[in-house]
Amino acid sequence: MKIIKVTDQQAGGKAGFEIFKEALANGATTFGLATGSTPVTTYAEIVASDLDFSKSTSINLDEYVGLAADHDQSYHYFMNKHLFSKKPFAQTFLPDGLAPDLDTFVKQYHEIIEKHPIDLQILGIGQNGHIGFNEPGTSFEANTHVVDLTDSTIEANSRFFASRDEVPAQAISMGIAEILKSKQIIVEAFGKNKAAAVKKMIEGPITEDVPASVLQKHDNVIVIVDEDAASLLA
Ligand code: F6R
Repeated sequence: MKIIKVTDQQAGGKAGFEIFKEALANGATTFGLATGSTPVTTYAEIVASDLDFSKSTSINLDEYVGLAADHDQSYHYFMNKHLFSKKPFAQTFLPDGLAPDLDTFVKQYHEIIEKHPIDLQILGIGQNGHIGFNEPGTSFEANTHVVDLTDSTIEANSRFFASRDEVPAQAISMGIAEILKSKQIIVEAFGKNKAAAVKKMIEGPITEDVPASVLQKHDNVIVIVDEDAASLLA
């Protein structure tokens, strides 16, 4: 793992942007994208740039089950707001939180990922070490699947909803096996509350108890951390 330490999330956004820029210049066509507070500065840099994604494909990591694309907490809504409405892509794929048959849907999403191998995947990390919505205990062999969210993730996400009861209890997530097939992976983490997860991801044993620790097995991972998120590293 290559580690880039930056002063703050703004600088992290620039560092992430530079990796997207280089990947695009090197012929990358498919980008795996994350939502959440972490990648927003990278997306803002992309939006402010003249980079052209009009021939690119994006594949998002996850979406809540039960939220329509126009719900303001859906990941469809987030991606349109922060990126797609301002920087058009040729095609964008996100899990369908309203798919009538989730079992069929997750297989179809897996086929989409197989058909469009991801050149560059951007990830955030949960305080419990999750990547995508792959919570602790998720098999490293998993492909796209339906996830029951843990209490800690529901609690962490409840800040975006009117009440805790409104946070969906399930999500669809790309699996760890699919994430690992990406040619290059960026993990961004900013703030003190990510420091313990960052330490376990980089220095801890590779264990399904800390999903992000699996990234130690990938040979092209760049971790972008601010001083707070890096504060527990040896
Ligand atoms: C979002 C995702 C999640 C987040 C993680 C960190 O698409 O896959 O794994 O990256 O929960 O969330 P933030 O960035 O809000 O701290």
